[in-house]
Order: sequence, then C-alpha cells, then structure tokens
Amino acid sequence: EQAEKGGYDHFMLKEIHEQPKALRDTLSGRIEADNSRVNLEEVTITPEEIKGLKKIFITACGTAYHAGLVGKYIIEKLVRLPVEVDIASEFRYRQPIIEPGTLVVIISQSGETADTLAALREAKRQGARIVAVTNVVGSSVAREADDVIYTWAGPEIAVASTKAYTTQLVSMYLLALHLAGLRGTLAPEKISELLAEMKTLDEKTQEILNDSQVIRDFAREIANSDDLFYLGRGLDYSVAMEGSLKLKEISYIHAEAYAAGELKHGTLALIEEDTPVVALVTQETLFEKMVSNIQEVNARGAAVLTLAMEGLKEVEKVSRKVVYIPRTYEVLAPILTVVPLQLLAYHTAVARNCDVDKPRNLAKSVTVE
Ligand code: G6P
Repeated sequence: EQAEKGGYDHFMLKEIHEQPKALRDTLSGRIEADNSRVNLEEVTITPEEIKGLKKIFITACGTAYHAGLVGKYIIEKLVRLPVEVDIASEFRYRQPIIEPGTLVVIISQSGETADTLAALREAKRQGARIVAVTNVVGSSVAREADDVIYTWAGPEIAVASTKAYTTQLVSMYLLALHLAGLRGTLAPEKISELLAEMKTLDEKTQEILNDSQVIRDFAREIANSDDLFYLGRGLDYSVAMEGSLKLKEISYIHAEAYAAGELKHGTLALIEEDTPVVALVTQETLFEKMVSNIQEVNARGAAVLTLAMEGLKEVEKVSRKVVYIPRTYEVLAPILTVVPLQLLAYHTAVARNCDVDKPRNLAKSVTVE
C-alpha cells in the first residue's frame, strides 16, 4: 500500500496532488486546438435536440451533488436554460416534472451509488434523455445512461472525494460551453476565451499546491475547534458547501456552509471570539457585499481565513489570514478555490490524528438506498 501512495502519507493527499494531471486528462481531446469549440463527441444529442431543450435536471449525491450546484450556476449563466439540482435520494420521491425537452444529468464518481442509480432509472422511466458524468468506465450509471462524459481522474481510493470533484466541474464547463455554442447563447470569442483559460487551470492548481503554508498553519489553529463556518456568495457558496463537507467527513469537526448574505438572519448569533470562519471571495461582482459580510463576523472576533482571487487585497483589512487564488475568470474559479479547502480538511484531520483515507461510518461507494 505504501508504494501505491507514491511517497505521500495518505491516498487523499496523493489524489489532491494528482489534480493538475486529472484536469489535463479530462480536457484532453475535448477542446479544439484553436479553442474555437468544445469537442464532446460522446454527447450524441443532435444540435436540433439541443436547440429544443427546455430544462435540465442535475441529480447526484455528496460531493457529486456539490459539483451539480456549480453546474446549475454555470449552465443558467452561460446557456440561459433553467436547471434544477436535486439530491438523488430526494429526486425520485418528489414527483419531478419531466416533460419533452428535459435533459437529466447524473453525476457519480463511482457510477454505482444506489440513490443516484435509482434517480437515473426514474428519470429514464419518465422519458428523459440522460447524460452521465462518471469516473468509472462500464459502471452501472455509464451503462444505463444515453450518453457518458467520462472524468479521467484515475482511480480515487480515499473516501473523501477530491480529484473526482474537480474533474466533474471540468465536465460541467465542457457541457455548458458545448450547449452554449450550439444554442448561440455566448459569443464565439467568449467561448474561445473560456476554453483557452481552462487549459491553464492545471498550472494554476499546481501553484496552489506548491504554496500551502498558510493553510497548514490555519489547520493547526482549528484542530481543537468544535465548529467552523464557511461563507460565500454565488459560486463561492457552492464551493463553500464542498469545503465544509470535506472537513466534516475526515476531521469530524462540525462545519456549516452559509450563503454570506443570509448570515444575519440567524447564524450570526453563533459567532463569538475566535470562532473559525473560512470566507471565499472570488466573485468580483459580489466583492463589496462579501467584504461587508466578512466584516460582520470579523467585528465579532471571528478568526477569519479568506480565500480571495489575486488582486482583491481589500480583504486583508477584515481577515486574520488570506490565501490568494491565481487569477482566472470568476466563472471558472471553483476549480481552483476548492483546492485550499481540500488541503485544509486534510491537514486538520492529520493534526487530529484521524484516519484520513477511511473515515468512520463512511464508505467510498454507497450501494444501499
Ligand atoms: C459516498 C462518498 C462520497 C461521494 C458520494 C457519492 O458518500 O463517501 O465521497 O461523494 O458517495 O458518490 P458517487 O460515487 O456517486 O459520486
């Protein structure tokens, strides 16, 4: 097993560090050399059918569900199609309205999660077209879907998902830009810019991995905490949810992600002197609002670690520690922002002597409903 870990102490850390390669592999061959368009041959829906789409559902569990939340945001923004995201175990019992022109996107690393598979079958029974995003070739989800977009993350051993999530995000961007191109909802130059930028995210992820000292220090500081809050707006809120899930799964510290603007409607009551808070600030359009939300917790003594897009230096006034994310388009930021959060969960769990790769009570693939 030591050899399989390739010199890392845990599979999780190895898998976090494999992300630059996983991003490259998942993008490989799927973007035209001149960045003019997405090349997603595995999606066999015709341009006419794509033009006729009325609605998209995204259904998944756990980390894959969080990738779906990012998917909703970017598809609605770039393709202007309504998207609903459901937890798979809820979807099939809530009588979803599936009409002609409905596409259902199923996300599952393993392709074997029982709830997700049941949701796929229910959607199919009601006549929806199914696109699966999975990491396992020939898995049940892959076999039963109409089309499959494979994430080429390689085997993921650690129970807490890392490289599967970032490659699921890549798949969501590819799908969104594929649909945007065919529906004409985004200018061709804008599509090219985003596709070109996606090809740089592997290097930017590597930059984050090369400089994790601030995260390690913060991990030591929170190792004895009972609670942690993650705050963000827009896409940052979706990433905050994934960050909080990572911490819960492997460090057993209670963590909650909150839409920063909602804080004042209740949760602010829980902030005391030294309550640890992780604030995400990558969305420049929401920058001012987010800074004032951080100020709300900072003024009450919270120990704030802020992850901000490079250049947004104003956050330093309201934070105890700041980690900058290499500059990218704000819509693509989740792929980078999650990486420090994965490292934070990892180093905190190590500091607490937790079994990082096999957390208590959890399984890598849950094949019971
Ligand atoms: C389990 C794992 C999670 C994973 C979820 C969905 O709960 O512990 O890490 O996100 O299942 O798994 P899937 O294979 O469907 O993505």
